[in-house]
Amino acid sequence: MEVAVAPEGGPALWPAVAPGKRPKKSAVLFFEVEILDARSREKLCFLDKVEPQATVADIKNLFSKSHPQWYPARQSLRLDPKGRSLRDEDALQALPVGTTATLYFRDLGAQISWVTVFLTEYAGPLLIYLLFYFRVPFLLACCCHSFHYVKRLLETLFVHRFSHGTMPLRNIFKNCTYYWGFAAWMAYYINHPLYTPPAYGDEQVKLALAVFLFCQLGNFSIHVALRNLRPAGSKARKIPYPTRNPFTWLFLLVSCPNYTYEVGSWIGFTIMTQCLPVALFSLVGFVQMAIWAQGKHRSYLREFRDYPPLRSPIVPFLL
Ligand SMILES: NC(=O)c1ccc[n+]([C@@H]2O[C@H](COP(=O)([O-])OP(=O)(O)OC[C@H]3O[C@@H](n4cnc5c(N)ncnc54)[C@H](OP(=O)(O)O)[C@@H]3O)[C@@H](O)[C@H]2O)c1
Ligand SMILES: *[C@@H]1O[C@H](CO)[C@@H](O)[C@H](O)[C@H]1NC(C)=O
Ligand SMILES: *[C@@H]1O[C@H](CO)[C@@H](O)[C@H](O)[C@H]1NC(C)=O
Repeated sequence: MEVAVAPEGGPALWPAVAPGKRPKKSAVLFFEVEILDARSREKLCFLDKVEPQATVADIKNLFSKSHPQWYPARQSLRLDPKGRSLRDEDALQALPVGTTATLYFRDLGAQISWVTVFLTEYAGPLLIYLLFYFRVPFLLACCCHSFHYVKRLLETLFVHRFSHGTMPLRNIFKNCTYYWGFAAWMAYYINHPLYTPPAYGDEQVKLALAVFLFCQLGNFSIHVALRNLRPAGSKARKIPYPTRNPFTWLFLLVSCPNYTYEVGSWIGFTIMTQCLPVALFSLVGFVQMAIWAQGKHRSYLREFRDYPPLRSPIVPFLL
């Protein structure tokens, strides 16, 4: 075990000490950190004199000084080449390492921020739909569709508090193909000159509009409730409960009411337009959200022992 000691006075070697029981003021205990490539085990970087209070985030910063191509959000550091990534807030002295720590590095690939992801994903459908709209107007469907994505864009900017800074860049190509492609396909059909209007006319459209707006409001209420669970700047995750806003009472029955409302509002849009691509988009969205909701539900059950037993992931009592 090697120990580096500050030069001014004190013995050349200082035994490892428990945090809190610090040695005499003049001698400061430092860690050495070596970073190896998790695959090739090649030594990428050696940091001496790292303060014990330094966090994984600090180490990532130091590492990126010598390897600027791997900025901190790209790095995953682990104690074991195949183990879990260390969290940014973990302090070096709290990790099970000696005073020489060996960390394994994996490159997570190019990263982009969540705000950019959401803005690109939702700006596409908004604009693409408007493009088609100018062929043949179907005013209401156009307004609802635009409203949905304007709402999503504004929420991304002003409501959500993201705990992860970034996601891998390659995902955005997949996500945009999905959102943008469906928007184009739906807009093409709804605004086609040979489009067949809803079978039950105005009544059907009004009912559908009510469902759509109700669910949009519900979805928004849930997003605000989730935002308020997390104080500004924190990464805390808590059990969401119903608030004074009646739209959030769905939290009594499901873990992800935002997804329930989302599915509801696409069902409303399907009834309004009575159009096959819209029905398909709703179905695909439902399947995807049911999968996410089940994952989220399981992680809530794992994380909170007192999680309300009545809740289902997405559809009350059923799914
Ligand atoms: N692979 C998956 O399992 C999976 C699941 C869901 C979403 N996604 C991806 O996420 C994108 C959109 O999903 P989304 O619209 O549902 O948004 P989201 O990214 O899941 O979440 C939006 C915001 O709400 C916060 N939040 C959620 N639960 C919270 C809680 N209990 N307490 C405090 N804050 C909470 C989230 O925090 P956090 O950042 O901490 O989550 C995040 O800031 C999709 O494009 C998809 O690519 C993937
Ligand atoms: C939707 O709800 C789930 C469960 O509460 C949450 O994890 C997810 O982040 C929410 N999505 C948004 C955009 O708030
Ligand atoms: C509702 O919430 C989900 C996730 O929280 C989001 O992806 C979706 O776009 C929202 N739907 C509506 C109708 O605003």
